[in-house]
Amino acid sequence: MNNAFFLYKLDLKNIFIGVFFTLFLVSCNTSESREEVYKIGFAQAMTTDNWRRDMNKSMQVEASMHPELSLKIKDANNDVQRQIKQIEGFINDGVDVLIVSPIQSVPITPAIEKAMNTGIPVIVIDRKIQNSNYTAYLGADNFDIGNQAAKYIITSKSSEIVHIVEITGDPGSSPAQERTHGFNNGINSKSNFTVTQQINGNWEKKSVITKLTNLLDTIAPPDFIFAHNDRMALGAWEVAKKKKINSQIKIIGVDGLFGPNGGIQLVKEGILSATILYPTGGAEAMKLSKRILDGESVSKNNILKSVVIDSVNVDIMQNQFDKINQQQNDIALQQGVINQQIDTYNSQNNLIKIMLCLLCILLILVIGTIYLVYRLKKSKHHLERNNQQIISQRNQIENFAKKLEKYNEEKINFFTSLSHEFKTPLTLITSSIESIATKTGTGLQGYEYERKLILNNSKRLLRLINELLDFRKLDANSFSPKPVKTNLKQFLEVIYEDFNNEALRKPINFEFTTNVKKPIVYIDRLMMDKVFFNILSNAFKFTPQNGNIRITITETDETYEVSVKDSGIGIPKEEYEKIFNPFTQAKNNTKNSSGLGLYITRKFVELHKGQISVNSHKGTEFKITLLKGKKHLEEFELSEFSEITDCDHQVLEFTSDFEIIDSPIPVDEQAEHILIIEDNTDLSQLLIRKLGQDYFVHLSDGTQALQKAFQIIPDIIICDINLPERSGFELCKNLKTDLRTSHIPILILTALSDQASRIKALQAGADIYLTKPFIFDVLEKSISSLLYNREKLRYYYTHKLGEVKDEKFDSSEQHFLKDLNTYIEANLNNPSFSVEDLAKQLHISRVQLYRKVKALLGISVSEYINTQRLEKAKYLLQTSTLNISEIAYQLGYSSPGYFSTTFKNKYGVSPRIFKK
Ligand code: FRU
Repeated sequence: MNNAFFLYKLDLKNIFIGVFFTLFLVSCNTSESREEVYKIGFAQAMTTDNWRRDMNKSMQVEASMHPELSLKIKDANNDVQRQIKQIEGFINDGVDVLIVSPIQSVPITPAIEKAMNTGIPVIVIDRKIQNSNYTAYLGADNFDIGNQAAKYIITSKSSEIVHIVEITGDPGSSPAQERTHGFNNGINSKSNFTVTQQINGNWEKKSVITKLTNLLDTIAPPDFIFAHNDRMALGAWEVAKKKKINSQIKIIGVDGLFGPNGGIQLVKEGILSATILYPTGGAEAMKLSKRILDGESVSKNNILKSVVIDSVNVDIMQNQFDKINQQQNDIALQQGVINQQIDTYNSQNNLIKIMLCLLCILLILVIGTIYLVYRLKKSKHHLERNNQQIISQRNQIENFAKKLEKYNEEKINFFTSLSHEFKTPLTLITSSIESIATKTGTGLQGYEYERKLILNNSKRLLRLINELLDFRKLDANSFSPKPVKTNLKQFLEVIYEDFNNEALRKPINFEFTTNVKKPIVYIDRLMMDKVFFNILSNAFKFTPQNGNIRITITETDETYEVSVKDSGIGIPKEEYEKIFNPFTQAKNNTKNSSGLGLYITRKFVELHKGQISVNSHKGTEFKITLLKGKKHLEEFELSEFSEITDCDHQVLEFTSDFEIIDSPIPVDEQAEHILIIEDNTDLSQLLIRKLGQDYFVHLSDGTQALQKAFQIIPDIIICDINLPERSGFELCKNLKTDLRTSHIPILILTALSDQASRIKALQAGADIYLTKPFIFDVLEKSISSLLYNREKLRYYYTHKLGEVKDEKFDSSEQHFLKDLNTYIEANLNNPSFSVEDLAKQLHISRVQLYRKVKALLGISVSEYINTQRLEKAKYLLQTSTLNISEIAYQLGYSSPGYFSTTFKNKYGVSPRIFKK
């Protein structure tokens, strides 16, 4: 799964890289296919009149036919400074060709020079500059225009004196200067023609009105007015009209524009007599630019043709212009269509590119998906194979579990039948023992205790086997109660009587009370007997001497409740439920138990649809609730009331129904002391009886065991492991690490036969480890061998004391002896040094010191001190020059005489003779 996810992630990553790469390639292609575009800048003088608009338009139309040309028009609005700045702007933009229509010649010249110096080709159009530092000039011949106007006037009048008024354009601009020049040249060729007045206009109508009105106020109406363009000519006509002399004056203009208020229109309407065609040259300028850019050589002066338009040719001209105009419009229209198609083409082209990209993505995704599907199939296949393996393994496990279950079943059946087999011989043993005991003269009189022991333990075994069989039956659900109508009070009275003897013997205050007169219940008597027997056995087991056990029956509408309350050790609250589980017992229960009793009890009560609960407060209370009537037991085979007999009860088994004896006094007064730490009364009593003849036997049931050992300082300790207060391991460790008891051999006698427990006991310092059941002879031999070893050690200690002193001691006993010798040596010359002093220095009591020294060395402490003194005396007598009195005082003897007597008693010779 993770792998698949990882692959999926990896593939997506690859897909995106692929897509990005494709897009990149496409975009590269796009930029590569784009053609180089030339920038053409046009510095227009102004766009206030139609002539200029026409110029711009024809430029744009021409440019639109050359996609490689990009035209930008800047309008100076008749502001010279502005035009200079705009030219500089074009230079900075790095235009490929610069076209300039100068407002005035002089101020614009340096700006054009600058462009030329930067290497930009410059086309000057319409108006000229001061010099000829430009690439090409384009425009009509203004001298010729002036001249044509003059000729037109001359040809229309021949005889009289003809008066002419000339209205010039801006005198700072070259067309105005050249047109005047050409006009004068023409007029002056005829003597009767004279330019009476000249008015300087600025190319616009407004500049004419006042000046001409004023002039006409002072002179007679002239024959001709020549205005340098049609706009000013129209102004002149309006003035003349106002003065109502318009029919007397012939007006000639320049430009010959087509369209409303254009020169052609004015000629047609008779406002102007003629107009000289002055072409804008817009289209030609673009063509010229293209040629320059294509590297062709162009002529410096490109002069456009002009012609006079008057009433004779105006229609033809109009028609021609109309056509041209239409053609231009058609071209513009077609251009628009072409542009639209180009746009469509471009958008379709882009669409195709996007589609191609998407196709690529799709392709990559399809490939990725196919790959993923392949990987998924592969991992699915792998998973299926794993699954198959798991299924077959599970089947194997199931088969194995079935086999195991069958095997377990067979094993349990085997043990069950074996347990059944045990019952017969055990029954035979108990009945035989009972019958032997009743017979006199069988030689068994001295074995009353052993007989009871055999009997009780056989019964116990029988009970345990019965519990085991009941458990097995419950486990197999093969129990079916046979309820009999029973008076619960009578039934419990019989059980009460059975336990009463035990209550009297212990003694325990045992009561059975009830206010219920006739509590009738349907119960399987054998089962319920086991229930109450179990509860009461437990109560007796855990209730101490002089404690209380009370049975009561109470009644509710539907039930009878039997309570068994004792003042025993109680059950920890958290274990209330646990104690009903099989093989478990409460933590504070150290008594031997199968752990099945309460489980069976609860199951039996539940089979009766009853309830059992436990509560513990200053003792334990079990409550058994049984339902009245028989409805709840209908499924079982019910029978009506019958007499309660002994057959309904099992036999009580209390081991201690004989007198508990103390250890008898052994025959030998010097006999060793044995401390038995064992909580099983049967076993401890048996050991007392068996060992009591040869040893002083002391007993502890596990409580206060350490204190007892410290108090007695026995010669040997026999200790169980499972004990109430602390375990045998713990006891062993405590005894072996305490100076007072460390020398005592410990024999562990336990039912734990496993290796781990054996090792644990030996590590705790145990000397011998015997497991139950044991052969008494082996126990006896083990005790005597331990005592013999102790004797050997004692011999070693008493005879090799000198060596012991200097050895590297490792046992605690050797440490003890070393300390003992050091203290005695230091006090040899102290007559008042006593056993109490010595015990104090060793931090143990006088009695404990006495017992320990006696156990280790076989002599009393004072004897040992004396021996040490005499040994030192012997040494001093042999090696020093001191006399006997000096030695006697030095060694703390009260008088030399007493020293001599003691010495002689020990070594058989007097010190004097010994020295000699
Ligand atoms: C247009 C115009 C024309 C004239 C030309 C001279 O702006 O005034 O009427 O012929 O300029 O440059």
